[in-house]
Amino acid sequence: MKTLLHLIGWTLATLALLQLIHIDIPTPPTPKAGDQVNAPAPVMAALKKGCYDCHSNRNNIPWYGNIAPISFEVRQHVKDGRKWLNFDLFNRYNEDKKQKIYKGIVKTVTNGSMPIPMYLWKHTEARLTPDERKAIIDWARELEIRN
Ligand code: HEC
Repeated sequence: MKTLLHLIGWTLATLALLQLIHIDIPTPPTPKAGDQVNAPAPVMAALKKGCYDCHSNRNNIPWYGNIAPISFEVRQHVKDGRKWLNFDLFNRYNEDKKQKIYKGIVKTVTNGSMPIPMYLWKHTEARLTPDERKAIIDWARELEIRN
């Protein structure tokens, strides 16, 4: 019994200490007119539904996203997701980068690695229908220069 209480005590103490570690998400630059990605309305709607939580300036961190250790995962996703691709700043990228993005979108939305499956497990509202996936893939394919 005593060991069990010790174990619980240590676990709680560890969790409490973990709360001190905070992953900072840098504030992204404020978009100017024309910086945002422009895509046909159905594509925009699908991107906003499935991708904007991590790939835009939208800040939509749920309450558990502030509690360690879950916060490590959640905040790191937003941090890395934005760093790689921010649809609100899309037109600041050069053509080279955009091409990498189109290719990446076709690949990841086709193979189901984007939106991140673990995120969808909790965010049912961000689950894309086959039509929404297709709209995103077709849009990226059309802009992609294949050689
Ligand atoms: C829960 C957060 C999250 C959501 C939602 C999300 N992404 Fe990502 N995305 C990331 C992170 C984090 C990375 C950085 C690469 C990695 O670690 O996998 C990334 C990387 C990418 C990449 C580059 C990866 C590669 O292999 O080329 C593309 C393209 C991408 N995301 C597209 C999308 C699209 C399109 C959507 C919506 C359909 C989406 N993402 C939704 C977090 C997210």
